[in-house]
Amino acid sequence: MTPTPIILDCDPGHDDAIALLLAVASPEIELVGVTTVSGNQTVDKTTVNALKVLELAGRSDIPVYAGADKPFLRERDVAAHVHGESGLDGPDLPEPSRQAESQHAVDYLAEEIRRRNGKITLVPTGPLTNVGLLLSLHPDARPVRIILMGGSIGEGNRTPAAEFNIWADPEAAERVFKEHLDTTMVGLDVTHRALIKDAHTERMRGAGKVGRMVAELMDFYARFHKSRYPDLDGSPMHDPVCVAHLIDPTLMEVRDAFIEVDCSAGPSWGRTNVDWRGREHFGAPNAKVGLDIDGERFAELIVERITSLG
Ligand code: RIB
Ligand code: CA
Repeated sequence: MTPTPIILDCDPGHDDAIALLLAVASPEIELVGVTTVSGNQTVDKTTVNALKVLELAGRSDIPVYAGADKPFLRERDVAAHVHGESGLDGPDLPEPSRQAESQHAVDYLAEEIRRRNGKITLVPTGPLTNVGLLLSLHPDARPVRIILMGGSIGEGNRTPAAEFNIWADPEAAERVFKEHLDTTMVGLDVTHRALIKDAHTERMRGAGKVGRMVAELMDFYARFHKSRYPDLDGSPMHDPVCVAHLIDPTLMEVRDAFIEVDCSAGPSWGRTNVDWRGREHFGAPNAKVGLDIDGERFAELIVERITSLG
């Protein structure tokens, strides 16, 4: 089986960190490079966090490139209430022994995509600022596929209307959906069924330094979710679902959809309006959207792969 080459564009972020670890733990995936963006925290912090996580997993060979430090237009607003001041509060992770590459993430994305004639999957798990800039600045560089974490058919999380990644940079997100690439949106409707429970965390805690680190990430991450979402029986693993979908496409139910982003000022800005029912007054599908996931099998995959890193 030839592994699928991907670039993870992320804002670590507890769930981004677990998505990175899932990617490096999985033979189905070749993590070619990592790009970072402002989102859960400022891009200087999300970049250091990506370097720390890769180093802990013994994968300092994977290059990291820092990207946009603020959204296209909107004011930057981080999610310290979820991920802490560092963006990866909880475990005491050593400072990375290397720097990020000097090239800007967007220029790296364009070069790597060209180098591979587009044969690479882009997995954005933060605000879509870097991806929007790529599409605008480099019209000749298009990945074969995008699997992004963001949006929701139903309720949002940053606001009742909007999910954080889209809310943080709605204009960039709209630019991505308008491109009509092979784009799969993994939204909250799915990720709120992709839960890591305390029992899963305890199984990982005893599995070496990576398992212990992930358990300590979950200890911190679960605090917010237990108070904000007492109705969920666990903590949503938003970003790892994108990687899991590449590893095992039978996990998530997907439909063609027409997706547009509300970029108007007001209580619904950043909302993804998703038509997956083929309503007559919408355009042809411009994306796919996740509808449901086998939460049990997903959680087992996470535990199995994280514990395999030792
Ligand atoms: O709304 C969840 C998303 O926002 C996840 O990607 C999380 O890491 C944050 O970036
Ligand atoms: Ca993220």
